[in-house]
Amino acid sequence: MPNEPKVIDGRAIAEKVYAELRREITALKAQGTTPGLAVVLVGDDPASRAYVRSKDKMCRELGLHSVKLELPADTSQPELLARVDELNHDPAIHGILVQSPPPKQIDESAIVRALDPAKDVDGFHPLNIAKLALGDASGFVPCTPLGCLRLLKESGVAISGAHVVVLGRSMIVGKPLALLLMQKGIDATVTVVHSRTRNLAEISRAADVVVAAIGQAGFVRAEHVREGAVVIDVGINRVEDGAAPRGYRLVGDVAFDEVAPKSVAITPVPGGVGPMTIAMLMSNTVKAAKASRTRSP
Ligand code: GUN
Repeated sequence: MPNEPKVIDGRAIAEKVYAELRREITALKAQGTTPGLAVVLVGDDPASRAYVRSKDKMCRELGLHSVKLELPADTSQPELLARVDELNHDPAIHGILVQSPPPKQIDESAIVRALDPAKDVDGFHPLNIAKLALGDASGFVPCTPLGCLRLLKESGVAISGAHVVVLGRSMIVGKPLALLLMQKGIDATVTVVHSRTRNLAEISRAADVVVAAIGQAGFVRAEHVREGAVVIDVGINRVEDGAAPRGYRLVGDVAFDEVAPKSVAITPVPGGVGPMTIAMLMSNTVKAAKASRTRSP
């Protein structure tokens, strides 16, 4: 019998995070520190522009110092490195995010390595990935995995001992999420599957929690999910839709209509993981600003 799934409201949970952050930001400002975030966008990819705009808007709503650096698509590697270096040394900036993916002439991993790890609010620098693997809480955890964990916790999903199957092995979501969920104290049993996995549906059907982060619209079907599972959809895919005002619609990696009836709880797209990613970016920026107060300049 199909049940009535709980649709997890990412916007409402993000609002709860913002209420907490507002209190912390007020306290930091009273101590003379306004958290500052710089978002760097190279080129004019429409989806990236939209993300950067919403990050900047949220900074302003929270009263953070926000710098939006929009560089032309033909920006060279040395130019971008020079801008990153300036931001590394700017005392008003506590967090730096270089929007991914950059244009082809940019060596993204070299840019990430050039970031001051103490300002790497994306959690992509090798030092922060090492800290995540080591369970050292002083590092930054990537925002989307952090957002997924918070959604699960706030929705009352029991994670300790649960089998979580993560679909996708990206450095932005799949790998860091697996590292996060298997940490001591969180204690999930994690399986990561990807495009080359044999018996993918069989493995994901064994999951208590399925996290879809493969970047393919509607990839997760009813056959991938057991009755009573929790489903977290990280995908944000644009699909053409002549009837939609912009000519496209946003859909997730999960075929919502056929998966929802089997699940006990599921995130929608939009309005699930997306709002949480930005909330966690703001949270990491506040964390960076706090930590900067206890470091010598
Ligand atoms: N592109 C898609 N997601 C992200 C993210 O979390 N951080 C950055 N820097 N780029 C992205």
